[in-house]
Amino acid sequence: MCGIIGYVGTDRGDDAIEVLLDGLSQLEYRGYDSAGIALADGGIAVHKREGELSALESTLSPERFDGDSIGIGHTRWSTHGPPSDANAHPHTDAEERVAVVHNGIIENYQSIRDELAAAGVAFRSETDTEVVPHLIAGFLDEGLDHEAAFRAAIDRLEGSYAIAAVFDGTETVYAVRNESPLVLGVGDDGHFLASDVPAFIEYTDRVIYLDDGQFARLTPAELVVTDGDGRELEPSIETISWDPDDAGKSGYDHYMRKEINEQPAALRECFRGRLDELSGRIDVPELDELGPVETVTFVACGTSYHAAMFGARLLREQGIPAHAFLASEFGADVVPIDSTSIVVGVTQSGETADTMRAIREANRAGATTVALTNVVGSSAARETDHVLYIRAGPEISVAATKTFASQQAALTMFAAAVTDRRSRDLVRELRAVPDRIQSILDTSSAREIAETYRGSGAYFFIGRGYHYPVALEGALKMKEITYEHAEGFAAGELKHGPLALVSEETPVFAVATGDGPLAEKTIGNVKEVEARGTPVVAVTDGRSDVGRYADHVLEVPATSPVASSIVANVQLQLVAYWTANELGRPIDKPRNLAKSVTVE
Ligand code: F6R
Repeated sequence: MCGIIGYVGTDRGDDAIEVLLDGLSQLEYRGYDSAGIALADGGIAVHKREGELSALESTLSPERFDGDSIGIGHTRWSTHGPPSDANAHPHTDAEERVAVVHNGIIENYQSIRDELAAAGVAFRSETDTEVVPHLIAGFLDEGLDHEAAFRAAIDRLEGSYAIAAVFDGTETVYAVRNESPLVLGVGDDGHFLASDVPAFIEYTDRVIYLDDGQFARLTPAELVVTDGDGRELEPSIETISWDPDDAGKSGYDHYMRKEINEQPAALRECFRGRLDELSGRIDVPELDELGPVETVTFVACGTSYHAAMFGARLLREQGIPAHAFLASEFGADVVPIDSTSIVVGVTQSGETADTMRAIREANRAGATTVALTNVVGSSAARETDHVLYIRAGPEISVAATKTFASQQAALTMFAAAVTDRRSRDLVRELRAVPDRIQSILDTSSAREIAETYRGSGAYFFIGRGYHYPVALEGALKMKEITYEHAEGFAAGELKHGPLALVSEETPVFAVATGDGPLAEKTIGNVKEVEARGTPVVAVTDGRSDVGRYADHVLEVPATSPVASSIVANVQLQLVAYWTANELGRPIDKPRNLAKSVTVE
């Protein structure tokens, strides 16, 4: 999972160096262990460095490149070979006739590499990508022109790739996509390509989403999309409605903080046009053609898996057998899938390799597939029968926050729509969620709690029912951005083992809202913990007396169990954020992690 960018500008266009570096800074969430660019005005000039983009920038003096108008760039998250200058992209052939950037995995690279090495090619990196420029060079040697050599090289590849290439001596960028995201930008004074729209949204809001197997040729004057046989296509140009500021930090120290604070707006957008308060109907036209729903299987990873657990519980409560599976564990040996099955991939990026594999397997088995995703034109959106967009807007921070809330909201609407449930109470409660979250954002004492408990031996999170996935999510957020040990448990499981771990050094965050039996049972679990001198932080709406047994309370407004799990989670996001801040962690880019995980 890397980020790629490409640009060709007219005489009136921007300097390529500026466009590439701007774009890479927006794509760093896709990988940040090395970065590189190739400028191609009068010879190919490659600059690449291990480390974050700033390491590359510190070696460049942009004035040197004033007037250069064509180039490609890359930000890397290692898959083949560790982070290093040599493994950073772009990669070139021996004579630097062509430079290539690549996102994805070339599965047959080893056999191609062996073949090229036997023919005398000297490799300078450990990457799978480097076979591509050498293959292209071989075809150039055979007399093929640039485009034909590019196509012939791509023909040899198996795997997933978005690839862009520039050649010495032409003002053209060539690109291709197969199972890795690639979007083109149509500008007045130049054309763009990138793994994701924020990379060039500052320059143009008109985009073309490439399909798998499609090629693109970008020159200052034209942007041509062709199929695998070279036939010209007439792709549709879509206009993106994001404000460029939406993709920036807007004054916040971290994208994560910004995105946590954007949740009320993101949820309003998710609900827009879908909730009818008068009839109590939840209208999701995207699902109108879904047909009868007998059972539902969710597949997802990480945070999205926690949302899927929440969605499965909602459906079960409404009488539809439903289960959430970790996408990496999903297969015919785990659960039988056939043409009567409905398989829902929950994936904010729409590109997660494990989830895509599960969706593809479900497609092959004849199931009806649904994508619940944030990214228009993503692989999940294109390869499923139905798409429900969560409309959270761009999420840059690696740690998912607003997309989780929007997934929960969209799954609540999914469950109501497929069961044709009408409930004015539910609609009212959903509509109130953005304001309830806003009141938490305005009043939360999570920062003080984080200061109190920073540097604890471990952090534990417990919850029951709809709060069980919230406990798991609270722990995941904590561990990924603070690097501290954190675990989430079903509250009832504590006494079956994990209780042995609690001590005076391990705060337990207990999520318990309402005054029903689940809250009462959670209080029982809190007492077990408290009796051992363990500090307890209750996340509660005050309707039970869980707060009496807690050292601290993080308040949430009173609402239904479903809505309160969306709301309560925000307190745990804030605790993780402020703890990471206290510990001085690189919050938006935690070590070893990337936003879009496009390897299995
Ligand atoms: C954690 C996080 C990851 C993702 C997971 C799936 O904060 O973001 O656990 O949830 O990698 O990603 P998507 O939703 O893009 O399929």
